[in-house]
Amino acid sequence: MKSALSLISVLLLASVFSSSSFAQDAAKGKALFAVCIQCHGADANGIVEKKAPRLSGQHDWYLLKQLTEIKSGVRKNPEMLPYIAKLTEQDFKDLAAYITTL
Ligand code: HEC
Repeated sequence: MKSALSLISVLLLASVFSSSSFAQDAAKGKALFAVCIQCHGADANGIVEKKAPRLSGQHDWYLLKQLTEIKSGVRKNPEMLPYIAKLTEQDFKDLAAYITTL
């Protein structure tokens, strides 16, 4: 009984300290990622000819920060901006969650 309880607390702790930094929905992110594929590739490995970098393997918080800064214009990315201009912060979180699964 005692070991079962410790196992439960370990699992609870693991979910609190999971790799994701925010509430998100990777399934929604997958749907949103459809327009990104033409430049970043279906596997998010980037496409050299498009000068679109690899996104897979990147931290979710970093992806979120870049998307936010590109949308606000802090980071200039005129090719990509039209594709994300109408997306919300929650969309960016969902996208980041999906991309980190690739
Ligand atoms: C028309 C091509 C194009 C489309 C479509 C596009 N991107 Fe990009 N993206 C780029 C390019 C080019 C860069 C690199 C710009 C630079 O050199 O700063 C980039 C950069 C990024 C970065 C920053 C990467 C880093 O390492 O700093 C993220 C994150 C990103 N894109 C996510 C997305 C997501 C998510 C979508 C879909 C909603 C998307 N992009 C759609 C072309 C595109």
